[in-house]
Amino acid sequence: MAATIKDVALRARVSIASVSRALNGTGAVTEKSRQRVLRAATQLRYTPHQAARSLITRRTRTVGVLLPDIHGEYFSELIRGIDKAARERGLHLLVSSSHGDSGEAALALSSMNGRVDGVLIMSPHVDAALTLGSLPATLPTVLMNMPASAGDAPTFLTDHYGGALAMVEHLKALGYKRIAHITGPEGNWDSDERLRGYHAALGRDAAGHGPVLKGLFTEESGYLAGRALLAATPRPDAVFAANDMMAIGCLYAFTEAGLRVPQDIAICGFDDIPIARYVTPALTTVRAQTTELGRQALDALAAAILEAGTGRGQRQVLGTQLVIRDSCGGALLARREPASFARGAGQAGFLRKTRVDGEMEDRPKQ
Ligand code: HPA
Repeated sequence: MAATIKDVALRARVSIASVSRALNGTGAVTEKSRQRVLRAATQLRYTPHQAARSLITRRTRTVGVLLPDIHGEYFSELIRGIDKAARERGLHLLVSSSHGDSGEAALALSSMNGRVDGVLIMSPHVDAALTLGSLPATLPTVLMNMPASAGDAPTFLTDHYGGALAMVEHLKALGYKRIAHITGPEGNWDSDERLRGYHAALGRDAAGHGPVLKGLFTEESGYLAGRALLAATPRPDAVFAANDMMAIGCLYAFTEAGLRVPQDIAICGFDDIPIARYVTPALTTVRAQTTELGRQALDALAAAILEAGTGRGQRQVLGTQLVIRDSCGGALLARREPASFARGAGQAGFLRKTRVDGEMEDRPKQ
């Protein structure tokens, strides 16, 4: 049976209160007693019972993190930011996924109740209010990437709309005439905002709107959308996928079918997940500061735990950056100077000229 604080006190020949003071570093205890307590605790392999402890301190030093999904680099980047900020504060994480379902989200949140000091929630499906309804009103809460209708808890969000607008403007400037879009899951706020940016950039230019296909933010759904686009007539000359994972799946479908990217068709994504720069050709994308989003949200939650109500009503928008790599380059020159483009050297020269090494600053955030 696990040793209790009483066993440690008996072995160290001190009171229970002295064991508590020695182990927590609070209150007065002589150095001799402290040493005896530490020795006894080590010999008995004593570790404090966290649930019992939190009943006394009313703090768990744990925060709950509810995400719509935990698959893929987008979420590992987000969790990395949250985890780093949590560790700096000596906080631990309890991570759960709602699998995009508000019923599961409500269950996950109710199971966290009493075990965490606060919760960070990313619940981008539209019925977010349902999810939040299951939270005790007094539990400090911070939201990520959720619409204003989700409530007045401090919220941190990516400028999905502005990033998508800048990307499609970039494709237009390169001379692409028929730009397709692959969306994220239906009812997903990130996806809806990115779609809104796509339509805003194309405006009334009916011809410029390529087909809009439904995806699920997964590589596989991007691959399937890519296959469908291969069969579309007329075929689009560029594809803007609502995230990098789908862009990479779509890229695979195109190269598998023998198309050259970007010479035959351009493809770009959103998020700038770490793998985006290592695919061939390297992916042009929109950098969402995903790790920073997680870090800032955790910082805000820590503040709200310390002082109830901190940050209420705040909506912090994190700007995006266009990251121009190789998967959309070349098209403009191919049209303007087809002869030099046809020769390999012309193409390489163009790519070198147009490629912005590092990043190109996006328009200022709204
Ligand atoms: N899932 C995957 N990728 C994403 C998401 C998401 O919910 N939001 C933005 N990029």
